Amino acid sequence: MKVSIVGSGYVGIITGLGFAEFGNEVVFVDLDERKVEKINRYEPPVYEKGLKELMKRNFGKYTATTDYDKMVETDLTFMCVGTPSKEDGSTDLKYVEFASKEIERALTNKDDFHAVVIKSTVVPGTTENVVKPIIEKESGKKAFNDFGLAMNLSF
Ligand SMILES: NC(=O)c1ccc[n+]([C@@H]2O[C@H](COP(=O)([O-])OP(=O)(O)OC[C@H]3O[C@@H](n4cnc5c(N)ncnc54)[C@H](O)[C@@H]3O)[C@@H](O)[C@H]2O)c1
Repeated sequence: MKVSIVGSGYVGIITGLGFAEFGNEVVFVDLDERKVEKINRYEPPVYEKGLKELMKRNFGKYTATTDYDKMVETDLTFMCVGTPSKEDGSTDLKYVEFASKEIERALTNKDDFHAVVIKSTVVPGTTENVVKPIIEKESGKKAFNDFGLAMNLSF
């Protein structure tokens, strides 16, 4: 299977390399060019014990890019962008919203089914009420029919 990871920080890089370790082809999409360059040089974009070895072991199974169009060349996308807290304690969804818009734009040009999984930490209802309408808006696609949409929360 081909898997894409949107957001290649602590959660994204480990999730993606886990998929690579199990034999999948992985595309990391991140807006941070320095992280993308590092991943393509097989250097850890963040510090995590054992990450360097994991990256070396899976050499050739993954690439990184800033180009969302590469995302649609995969079957499944995990969104792992940050969700920082605002001063009032609520979650700032700006990265989730921006990534959702880019996913929507990229999916508009894809005929095949594509599944999107939200791994970023969001409050219940965010996938349904924030991500789904953004992806559906301009793409002309319907969730659970033209594209899959799920939440992958873990503690
Ligand atoms: N579900 C889980 O198992 C689990 C576990 C721990 C944390 N989390 C959550 O995962 C999320 C990511 O955490 P982290 O520690 O990896 O954050 P991080 O800040 O280390 O990484 C986020 C990455 O997303 C990139 N990014 C931001 N906007 C983007 C966009 N529009 N397109 C592409 N890339 C973009 C950033 O450049 C950065 O590399 C947070 O919401 C965190 O709470 C989830």
